[in-house]
Amino acid sequence: MENSNALTVAPSVLAADFSSLGLALDKIADSGADWVHWDLMDGHFVPNLSFGPPLIAALRPRSKLFFDVHLMVTNPVEIALEAVKAGANAVTFHWEAEVHHHRLIERLHSEGVRAGIAVVPSTPVELLQEVLPFLDLVLVMTVNPGFGGQSYLSFCEKKIQKLSSWRESLGLNYRISVDGGIQEKTAIQARKAGADTLVTGSAFFRAENPAEFVGKLRGGTLT
Ligand code: DX5
Ligand code: ZN
Repeated sequence: MENSNALTVAPSVLAADFSSLGLALDKIADSGADWVHWDLMDGHFVPNLSFGPPLIAALRPRSKLFFDVHLMVTNPVEIALEAVKAGANAVTFHWEAEVHHHRLIERLHSEGVRAGIAVVPSTPVELLQEVLPFLDLVLVMTVNPGFGGQSYLSFCEKKIQKLSSWRESLGLNYRISVDGGIQEKTAIQARKAGADTLVTGSAFFRAENPAEFVGKLRGGTLT
């Protein structure tokens, strides 16, 4: 994705009030955030169910923002293609849920969307090395996936650092997204490690002033 150093803020709809998702999208747009993050869970890859592509399709006309879809599902190919039809701009699937990573990345590209791979906290990023040149985004989970509102796992920062240094040394340009437990303090830690995309669920929707919260995520000295 272009300009991989510019900070992107991606509020996660998972933490929104599900009885008024249209308003949640308005809130995200009004806050000055960049993307909308959609967490699809199948009750199998993770022990929770959220929503599927039809919900994204229903809400697509409501927002002009970039739809960043995170699939926490086993056998992600079919759902990935449904997510594309629903209006996703980027589709990220889990490394742990697929064998033919390169095939799915290429398929997503042929559908005209960005392709990302996510890793759970215990998955080493060294496994991704062969496919990094093909990726638009790597999503480093800083909680065990399945639920919003969990605490940030700082040991995952080592993986962000590695991805950042490989991007530099190999001349690649994938984004490095961090997802789970992001609030003002942890955002600074993740950015210091090299993340350029911040997913934020509960902290964003809890904020009294979402625009100010997004401003704080963008600001903050990295010393
Ligand atoms: C967790 C999801 C996250 C989650 C983030 O499985 O992938 O995107 O919504 O929520 P917070 O910011 O509350 O940790
Ligand atoms: Zn997510």
